[in-house]
Amino acid sequence: MVRMALLLGIMLLGFLTNVDQFVSGKENHYVRDACSVTRYKDLCAHSLASFSNIAKRSPTKWARAGVSVTIAEVKIVAADLKKLKRNWYMRGRNRVALSDCIDCFSDALDELHRSLGVLRWLSKTTFGTQMGDINTWISAALTDEDTCLDGFEGQKGKRIRLPQNQVLNATYITCNALALVNKLASTGLGSITNP
Ligand SMILES: *[C@@H]1O[C@H](CO)[C@@H](O)[C@H](O)[C@H]1NC(C)=O
Repeated sequence: MVRMALLLGIMLLGFLTNVDQFVSGKENHYVRDACSVTRYKDLCAHSLASFSNIAKRSPTKWARAGVSVTIAEVKIVAADLKKLKRNWYMRGRNRVALSDCIDCFSDALDELHRSLGVLRWLSKTTFGTQMGDINTWISAALTDEDTCLDGFEGQKGKRIRLPQNQVLNATYITCNALALVNKLASTGLGSITNP
C-alpha cells in the first residue's frame, strides 16, 4: 500500500514536472517570437522573459514591456553615472563627459516615460500619430545615449570601461524597444486591446 502510494506520488511528480516544462517551453516560445524582430535577441529574451505569460502574442504588450525594461535599465545606469561623478576621482575630459552623460540620460528617461505614457493609452483614431511620436522619442533617447558614448570615445582604463559598457548596454536595450514599437506600428490597429 505504501509502495503503491509512493509510486503514484512519483508518477504525479513526473506529470507535474512535465506540465511545468511544457508551460515554460511555451512561454519561452512567446518571448523568442516577440524578440525575433530585435537586433540583440539574447538580451531581449533575457530581459523580457518574465513578461511571456501576460504578453503572449500581443504586440502592444510587448512594446510596453520593452519600453518598461528600458526605463528600468536607463534608471540604473543614470544612478550609477551620478554615483560615479560623486565618488570617483575623474578629472578633465572624463569628468565633463560624465556630466554630459548625466544630462543625456535624464533627457532619455523623459522621452522614454513619455513613450510609455502614450503606449498605455493607444487609440484607434490617433494610432498613426501616436506611433510616430513614440518612434521619434525613442530614437531621441537612443541618440542621447549615443552622445554619451561619444564623450568617452578614445578613452581607456578600467574607470571608463565600466560606464562605457553600461551605457552600451542601455543603447542595446533601447534599440530593442524601438524594434518592438515598430513591430506594433506595422501590425497596426487590429492589435489594440483597449481602444
Ligand atoms: C544589461 O541590461 C540587462 C537588462 O536590464 C541587465 O540584466 C544586465 O545586467 C546589463 N548588463 C550590464 C553590463 O550592464
